[in-house]
Amino acid sequence: MILAFLGKGGSGKSSVSSQIALYLNSQHKSVLAIDADHNMDLSYNLGGDDVKDIMYYGNALMDLQLAVGLDKGEKYSAAFLKKITHRFTLSPLSSEIEKYSVKLENGIRLMIAGPQTDDVLYGKACSHILTTPLKLLLPLLELQENEVVVIDEKAGADGVSTGIITGVDIGVIVCEPALHSIKTAKQIAELMKFYKTPYMFVGNKIASSEDKNFIEESLGEVPIAYLMESTNLKRNPSLLVSEWSDELSMIFEHAQKLSQNNRLERTIKKFQRNHEFSHN
Ligand SMILES: Nc1ncnc2c1ncn2[C@@H]1O[C@H](COP(=O)(O)OP(=O)(O)OP(=O)(O)O)[C@@H](O)[C@H]1O
Ligand SMILES: [Mg+2]
Repeated sequence: MILAFLGKGGSGKSSVSSQIALYLNSQHKSVLAIDADHNMDLSYNLGGDDVKDIMYYGNALMDLQLAVGLDKGEKYSAAFLKKITHRFTLSPLSSEIEKYSVKLENGIRLMIAGPQTDDVLYGKACSHILTTPLKLLLPLLELQENEVVVIDEKAGADGVSTGIITGVDIGVIVCEPALHSIKTAKQIAELMKFYKTPYMFVGNKIASSEDKNFIEESLGEVPIAYLMESTNLKRNPSLLVSEWSDELSMIFEHAQKLSQNNRLERTIKKFQRNHEFSHN
């Protein structure tokens, strides 16, 4: 299953996705954590300074294109219009994933988009280009029952509107009890509906029952779980927060229930629709 953590800036995407990755790892799942944000908070939470020598997957598009049988000049979207048969796997580990990831001491495998490149800084490419490799990798990644991919996305609705989301099985939208966090969460939910990708809400930074009421009233529904304010999390985001274990388990169980393992089908449909739109 592939879970993507989404939400407004500061809502807790990196904290909650790190905790889910640590929790699932402690439950003997095989975890691939993907840091899709240039701030790299998930990487620092999970890997500390061990991640210095990693090859950033932001540069992996050409390798992935060649692996699936596309020519250098072709757009990656051609892979979905041609319905190519190549698949990436974690066991056995595809060589392209091995090249652009690192196995941490705790057993979690980590991939990092990486910081902005010169191409972005000098205006040759848009910063979204650093997550484009995921648009090819995720829909073609075939997972076993015990394998889970946890993605920490960039803040806000912008990343979601690039369509990357058809490559995930479920979006976990994190919101805090603050009006703009909830507005963004609703906006992201609308985009998820557009891309026909399941999602669920998680309330974070909860300090009181008023916080829960505020979220439920402004959101118009009850989140799957509430995560309380945690001093332990703030002080040591690399350690599993023990007081959250019931909620982390609940989030994973609901994700399993709601997720739809049809990301390749959804992605093919999206590219067919895009193709028709631009040729009419
Ligand atoms: N439940 C919580 N209790 C206490 N502090 C929290 C909680 N959740 C998140 N925080 C703190 O809030 C800040 C923002 O959290 P985090 O970086 O996880 O959010 P984010 O959504 O990933 O932000 P960004 O949009 O910058 O990527 C951090 O300092 C983190 O320690
Ligand atoms: Mg973050």
